[in-house]
Amino acid sequence: MADEYRVQMRGIRKSFSGVKALKGVDFLLRSGEIHALVGENGAGKSTLMKILSGAHSMDEGEIIINGTRVIAATPRRSKDLGVGIVYQEFELADDLTIAENIFIDRLGVHGIVRWRRLYAQAEKVMHSLGFDIDVRNRVGDISVAYKQVVEIAKALSANANILILDEPTAVLTPNETEKLFASMRSLREAGVGIVYISHRMDEVFAICDAVTVMRDGEITGGGALADFDVDGMVELMIGRKLSTMYPPRHATVGDEILRLDNLSGEVFSGIDLSLRRGEILGIFGLVGSGRTEIVRAVFGGDGFRSGTVYVDGRETHIRSPSQGRGHGIALIPENRKEQGLILDMPIRQNMTMTNMRAVAVVPGIISRNREDRLAGELARRLSVKTADTRNPVNSLSGGNQQKVVIAKWLNTDSKIVIMDEPTRGVDVGAKAEIYAIMNELAARGVGILMISSELNEIIGMCDRVAVIDKGRKRGELGRNELTEKGIMKLVVGGHN
Ligand SMILES: Nc1ncnc2c1ncn2[C@@H]1O[C@H](COP(=O)(O)OP(=O)(O)OP(=O)(O)O)[C@@H](O)[C@H]1O
Ligand SMILES: [Mg+2]
Repeated sequence: MADEYRVQMRGIRKSFSGVKALKGVDFLLRSGEIHALVGENGAGKSTLMKILSGAHSMDEGEIIINGTRVIAATPRRSKDLGVGIVYQEFELADDLTIAENIFIDRLGVHGIVRWRRLYAQAEKVMHSLGFDIDVRNRVGDISVAYKQVVEIAKALSANANILILDEPTAVLTPNETEKLFASMRSLREAGVGIVYISHRMDEVFAICDAVTVMRDGEITGGGALADFDVDGMVELMIGRKLSTMYPPRHATVGDEILRLDNLSGEVFSGIDLSLRRGEILGIFGLVGSGRTEIVRAVFGGDGFRSGTVYVDGRETHIRSPSQGRGHGIALIPENRKEQGLILDMPIRQNMTMTNMRAVAVVPGIISRNREDRLAGELARRLSVKTADTRNPVNSLSGGNQQKVVIAKWLNTDSKIVIMDEPTRGVDVGAKAEIYAIMNELAARGVGILMISSELNEIIGMCDRVAVIDKGRKRGELGRNELTEKGIMKLVVGGHN
């Protein structure tokens, strides 16, 4: 029966200035179902959902939302029919309160805002999601995790019975993710249809009932989740079997290249760390544990209060990112949108600006040919999906933008490379490629500090791991002691 479907999309086509993002896609969402939408970076997932939410127009196709045929979807029309969406990028207004953000569309109707009711309603929505927070807080002052929850509350606020979540857990801790899953389950009970976009296969298998796999603007498979395993799903996503996720490494670990001695700052204290040439040192910590602040202090992005940073055995006084770079340190930042990219500049310039020497004919004069060749090579290695590296970065899908930042920083002659969640939002194929590049850097004697909250990659890639929680180092584990249990024990141990 047709009306068991919340959403029916058929034959959807969409091009962006010649690029075929969707080539005739069918997508069905039932009520009371959590439906995974997966595929490589640039496969068309966000575009398909933006068409459903009315943010993009389609070139061709048919959309039926809750039984109503929609000729020209607009954000207003889709919302009225029950669609709530949380976009991949945050869309909140930092200067407004949580409550104002949640009900932003309904503020100032007839010029009157009933504040008390607004706050009460906002509180109710946040509470139903399992999060207690004063909704009078300014959004600019809350953590990214809470921002994500506010986005979801906002999407649900108009009584949505179709909820689209585009990579919602990227900034959540496991605990917060669990809470989100619990609310998704109760929404499912209530008959809401949920579309769940994620690159994390373990989450897809933990929470979803059905799956649709996309590649290159087309559907390559789908059905009940129970009929799939990870390998099969990955094969549909990338069009081939993925042989090794974590390639073996043949680096020899050399002398110490970086040492943090009793480093203390705003949110961390007494941090000792030592990194050697050719070594991959993992820093495991959850979002908000202070891990990002530590490496930003080393790089010169933020200051620190006391302690010493040694590079190559010499005491440093790094006070700015350019001084950090001067000491041969590169940082691939966590917040790539703000710190990593110039969005309206061409992809190739973004990729090569960290290594002017490689693209200059003589100092100061850039060879477009060299730039082109280098960017082309990096784009190919990381399979950045674009027709031309002269296109601006903001024409790329979310994950492909991340690949550009990573390419930019991998392409340096730095001797210390710090990576803050390098594979967040990146598809499985590109993940494996990033790991391979890390190994190559290590083999060249580069020391790598990798921050990650993904246990799998920490265990798969690191020679040694330091566990950070609540701004303190809880311990270190060597290659042979690296197990999920061992790491979590150190995190939990710090809570006693
Ligand atoms: N505004 C735009 N202008 C030009 N091209 C675009 C635009 N938005 C998306 N595209 C292109 O459409 C294709 C699909 O992008 P989309 O954002 O839907 O991918 P995605 O599956 O969501 O990927 P990711 O996992 O990286 O988020 C890509 O080739 C992308 O470059
Ligand atoms: Mg996307």
